[in-house]
Amino acid sequence: MVVMTNQPSHTPVLLEAAIDYLDVRPGGTYIDCTTGLGGHSEAVAGRLGEQGLLLSIDQDRDALEFARAKLAPFGRRVSFAHGNFRDLAEIAAEHGIAKADGILMDLGISSMQIGIPERGFAFGLEGPLDMRMDADSGGETAADIVNTWDETSLANLIYTYGEERQSRRIARAIVAARPLGTTWELARAVEQAVGGARGRTQIHPATKVFLALRIRVNGELDSLDAALPQALSLLDGPGPDSHGGRLVVISFHSLEDRIVKQYIRQEAKDCLCPPGLPVCRCGHVAALRDLTRRAVRPSDEEVARNPRARSAVLRAAERIR
Ligand SMILES: C[S@@+](CC[C@H](N)C(=O)[O-])C[C@H]1O[C@@H](n2cnc3c(N)ncnc32)[C@H](O)[C@@H]1O
Repeated sequence: MVVMTNQPSHTPVLLEAAIDYLDVRPGGTYIDCTTGLGGHSEAVAGRLGEQGLLLSIDQDRDALEFARAKLAPFGRRVSFAHGNFRDLAEIAAEHGIAKADGILMDLGISSMQIGIPERGFAFGLEGPLDMRMDADSGGETAADIVNTWDETSLANLIYTYGEERQSRRIARAIVAARPLGTTWELARAVEQAVGGARGRTQIHPATKVFLALRIRVNGELDSLDAALPQALSLLDGPGPDSHGGRLVVISFHSLEDRIVKQYIRQEAKDCLCPPGLPVCRCGHVAALRDLTRRAVRPSDEEVARNPRARSAVLRAAERIR
């Protein structure tokens, strides 16, 4: 466990919209799949009433311990699970949850993870090239990838997940600079290949390389793909008040958002047959209502207050059967 010298602070992104779309009701059952520092969880827990229940999940033990202390005032209304939301159905079952009224995912990493140099997420802080959100996973680290993958595979990774057009040049520089042990060494190799911060937006080219590595190290897109159908199955259908369970997902980059958008669109349709078939053969029936055809984005005021919100996109859907 990493020892924190300062209390990390985190401003939850799109908090009001997330809580509105979850439509948290007293007595309901909710799951926060990405508890982080507990900002969204705290807002949900505060609306649960005496009989409600919140399950707060995170794959990062340090984050979960922080959230556990923060949410202690809510007592037994909030329970905690260390795990990956790709195992959502199993985690929910272990906590006795068969149906939920709302499920939240606030994807990516927390400000605590970015702020601890030993975690290796930030190219601005010197630390080992780790980047595992679940430090206990024993899985591949960013150092394993940059030091062992061949140049073409590295270039493909940086191109696909980082959407970086200069991926080949960067991959060549990474291979030439091996062995790479720290965030700064990697950032320097990238800078040497393509220069420092570019253009008016001043995005450092290492930003995209670090993003690509982080997505791969944590299998982020695969976990999201695996979790969405489990979330749908867990959501309760409409009750006598015709209110169905709600899914709310906040994404921070286009690859995540595309997965969420496509999933919601698909599950909001009655038939998925290829166009042109005279009759439906698939028998697919819509299970969701898309609540955010136009994705919800933070206001300028929120971005000014919390620059981390800049790229956030919220989508929400309601279970209709
Ligand atoms: C953006 S932060 C969440 C912040 C939180 N909503 C708050 O208000 O404090 C994302 C959190 O999700 C966790 N996380 C990301 N992917 C996960 C996954 N597949 N399974 C479980 N936790 C995950 C990260 O460890 C991180 O703590």
